[in-house]
Amino acid sequence: MDHFAYRERSLYCEDVAITALAEEYGTPLFVYSQATLLHHLQSLQTAFAEAKPIICYSVKANGNLSICRLMAQHGAGFDVTSGGEYYRAQQADPAAKVCFAGVGKTDAEIRYALERGVFLFDVESEEELHTLGEVAKSMGKVAPAALRVNPDLPPKTHVKTDTSVKGVKFGLDIETVLDVAKGVVGNPHVQVVGLHMHLGSPILSPEPYAAGAAKGVTLIEALRQQGHDIQYLNMGGGFGIHYRKNEALPAEMFAKAILPAVKATKCQLVLEPGRFIVGNAGILVSRVLFNKSTGGRSYIIQDAAMNDLLRPTLYDAFHRIWPVTPPADVPERPDDFEATMPGTHQQDVVGPVCESGDFLAKARNLPALRRGELLATFSAGAYGMSMASNYNARCRAAEVLVTGGAHRLIRRRETPADLVACELDCLN
Ligand code: LLP
Repeated sequence: MDHFAYRERSLYCEDVAITALAEEYGTPLFVYSQATLLHHLQSLQTAFAEAKPIICYSVKANGNLSICRLMAQHGAGFDVTSGGEYYRAQQADPAAKVCFAGVGKTDAEIRYALERGVFLFDVESEEELHTLGEVAKSMGKVAPAALRVNPDLPPKTHVKTDTSVKGVKFGLDIETVLDVAKGVVGNPHVQVVGLHMHLGSPILSPEPYAAGAAKGVTLIEALRQQGHDIQYLNMGGGFGIHYRKNEALPAEMFAKAILPAVKATKCQLVLEPGRFIVGNAGILVSRVLFNKSTGGRSYIIQDAAMNDLLRPTLYDAFHRIWPVTPPADVPERPDDFEATMPGTHQQDVVGPVCESGDFLAKARNLPALRRGELLATFSAGAYGMSMASNYNARCRAAEVLVTGGAHRLIRRRETPADLVACELDCLN
């Protein structure tokens, strides 16, 4: 369910017209629906209810403090992948449970996490495991560790975001997990209490979860035989969302694939969803600047760019795009954005950035658009703002959170002064 719907040919987020938001806050603008965010969190809580899961919202998907706080208020902990994300999680809720993943944690980050009572380190290499023990020892503490295993599964998503095929940098090779774990048996400063896997993202099938979880069951038994008190099975995130049409699976399908392993191991289940919660809860609103045709292609040049939403450029990702106030001769909202439609022609939607790779969509069926018209790029709530940059010295967009008929600015638009704020002008 998302709460972005057209009413009499004008797009609304919950009960607020997007035109009004663009007027008030300017463009490019990220608009989030609180009802959609909570709906997705709650649908996971419900689908996995019998396992009483610890849901650690993945901060990398969208780390805005208001969104993180909303997650914490509704029972989520956090999955973080850097000291910076850890800081965000702490700002949102200092008491929340935090899983700390990532192949390259620095000693300072490890210390920071230990000081703050980290819930679990998702450990990605043998050296990291021993370093955890050493840092914890120097602080008189015990590091709680979940070994991240790469379960070596067939490809399941884009090559740049598939984290469970052989040879990627993530996790421990499945063949080596037991040897690595043996190395810390009896170490008083590192306790292996969990098994972690994150298969990749986005994943539109439950099968990899079932296959990964089954391998997890075997490993957990063997780790317990070594003497490790394994209490947690962390299956990561990666659940897919609607990008093209309604292709996302309901949370129950993933629950069905994962719950048998939870029962078999009697572990507490941990999940780290990001995109599933926030992806369809956000859109990127932009304004058309110019039209032009060249070399047989039609271009819509609008004011959002690859620095605002990198996914099309980086992964050739498909995001639905449609006018905020569509003209009368096209569908109010197409069922199939890829089908040819009367009243439309193929256009490339591009931004102002100086790269030919700067685009939001290629050869997309869209009606003719005039200067000043608004466009909505859907499913932009996850990995939009969190991957935004200041390339071309572009100020990052503002973010607005809508609740019913109310809206709040949750991040102001950056200014040119923000762009140079960290620089030390030593030649002046
Ligand atoms: N846990 C771990 C250890 C992860 O590495 C990730 C994502 C997640 C959880 C959350 O995955 P999610 O539920 O959000 O799919 N920039 C890419 C996605 C990269 C995901 C990296 N890790 C994109 O825009 O598609």
